[in-house]
Amino acid sequence: MIPINLSGKVALVSGVGDNLSFAWFISKTLQAAGAKIVLSVHPRYMGIVEGLLRSTQDDDVEARKMPDGSEFAPTKLFPCDASYDTMDDVPPEVKNDRRYAKFPEYSVKGTVDAVAAEFGGIDILIHSIAFSREVTKPLIDTSRKAYHEAMGISAYSLISMVRAAAPHMANRPGGASVVGLTYVAGERVVPHYGGGMGTCKAALQMDAKQLAWFVGDKNIRVNLISAGPYASRAARAINKDFDKLVTHAAEHSPLRRPIEPDEVANATLYLCSPLASAVTGQILYVDCGYNIMGT
Ligand SMILES: NC(=O)c1ccc[n+]([C@@H]2O[C@H](COP(=O)([O-])OP(=O)(O)OC[C@H]3O[C@@H](n4cnc5c(N)ncnc54)[C@H](O)[C@@H]3O)[C@@H](O)[C@H]2O)c1
Repeated sequence: MIPINLSGKVALVSGVGDNLSFAWFISKTLQAAGAKIVLSVHPRYMGIVEGLLRSTQDDDVEARKMPDGSEFAPTKLFPCDASYDTMDDVPPEVKNDRRYAKFPEYSVKGTVDAVAAEFGGIDILIHSIAFSREVTKPLIDTSRKAYHEAMGISAYSLISMVRAAAPHMANRPGGASVVGLTYVAGERVVPHYGGGMGTCKAALQMDAKQLAWFVGDKNIRVNLISAGPYASRAARAINKDFDKLVTHAAEHSPLRRPIEPDEVANATLYLCSPLASAVTGQILYVDCGYNIMGT
């Protein structure tokens, strides 16, 4: 038997917005393997996520259930808006917004440094963030402003997070692992994936490879998972007929079925485990094979 044991590892997971997020499933799976889970949550979603972690509603309790019957229980939540590298970048209207004003710190560097200081370093960093305010608009109609904002939040944030985390992830026992989430629209035309998001994923994919080089000498690995379509909150915002897109992908995938979020979580666990110790700069497709098809 080859066990995966992440006991003693600290995993900083971004992108939990609710209990359908890929990051929720990834966090549960990393916890099941023994890792300590620390969530960085968008400031506007802190209340939602805290609520889901203590809700007594049956479906929320069910969503927290671990395979061994225990509960999903992140050690701590930190607010973090991946638009801002430091608090100096935050404009006054955001600082004064009541959903932000209650938090003294929510920049990428401030959050990453605070996590590392409190937990003695970081072994695993999960980037599961994407946003475009014009995601429903085709690329050709996307405004310059929305395009740049989407690139900042969905692509540049990986660079920002890795730059901040690298000193805290350097030369950890067994090495450290960064995993991000991408989509086939980063390399093929998916017309409905608008607001510049396809370009964001293309940038994310090349950035992940470059980052793999820049932090490889510190034994930090950087990989992406290219997930098949799945009806999370962000995905449903792309298109009201998102379920039809999932069905289309399923029918045109070699495995003839949609993906399950647990399958993305399991592949993430592999990439964070010693089994992937020589794997870096790669894109692992967890899409039932959809990306190989010509239809
Ligand atoms: N669902 C799919 O079909 C699919 C397929 C392939 C890849 N992905 C990718 O998976 C990742 C997670 O998406 P998901 O489907 O779980 O949806 P989701 O809505 O659950 O997750 C997206 C997360 O991004 C966070 N976010 C947005 N703007 C942010 C900001 N400025 N700062 C910090 N966090 C911010 C949101 O709070 C949310 O938690 C994304 O990168 C997405 O592109 C999704």
